[in-house]
Amino acid sequence: MKKLKEYIRSIPDFPEQGIIFRDITSMLQDADGLALAVNKLRDEVKDLDYDIIVGPESRGFIFGVPLAYAEHKPFIPIRKKGKLPCETISVEYDLEYGKGILEIHKDAVSPGQRVVIVDDLIATGGTTQAMIKLIEQLGGVVVKLCFMIELKDLKGRDKLKGYSVSSLVSYE
Ligand code: PRP
Ligand code: ADE
Repeated sequence: MKKLKEYIRSIPDFPEQGIIFRDITSMLQDADGLALAVNKLRDEVKDLDYDIIVGPESRGFIFGVPLAYAEHKPFIPIRKKGKLPCETISVEYDLEYGKGILEIHKDAVSPGQRVVIVDDLIATGGTTQAMIKLIEQLGGVVVKLCFMIELKDLKGRDKLKGYSVSSLVSYE
């Protein structure tokens, strides 16, 4: 049986010179790869006490929704600016390549709700830090952060001190 890492391909100089893009589409297009990925994420959350799964557009949806479905939990999307139709709060954040604004519906998280954040990848940690800000501003409690991939060199974990963080595959 193939390991998770073997389903991920690495593309040099995408989307910019010097970035090695860790591409999960090769994992998704293999039914065994997709099942292994979701099952491994299930292992990360199965013993946790939590209410909702939150994930960011767009690759966070790819793993967050099947995980929420499998665990019978609600899924809350965090989206890039201007995509959510109801009242939102927003936060600006830095990416490995560029800047952005993320938004969440104001009524999507209730005070005291226990939240698991899921994303395909942590690089600088900017996206995750922004998501935490949004969730905590609404009174949510972040109990765990689950990533498929961690880019260790970019030290995203340093921004997440005090939170429980897990990743399934890492690159130096
Ligand atoms: C990627 C990835 C993470 C984020 C990680 O998303 O899916 O959400 O970058 O980077 P960071 O740790 O440096 O913040 P991206 O913003 O490229 O959007 P996409 O999922 O729509 O491709
Ligand atoms: N998001 C941010 N950095 C990335 C990388 N190196 N590969 C894939 N997705 C990313």
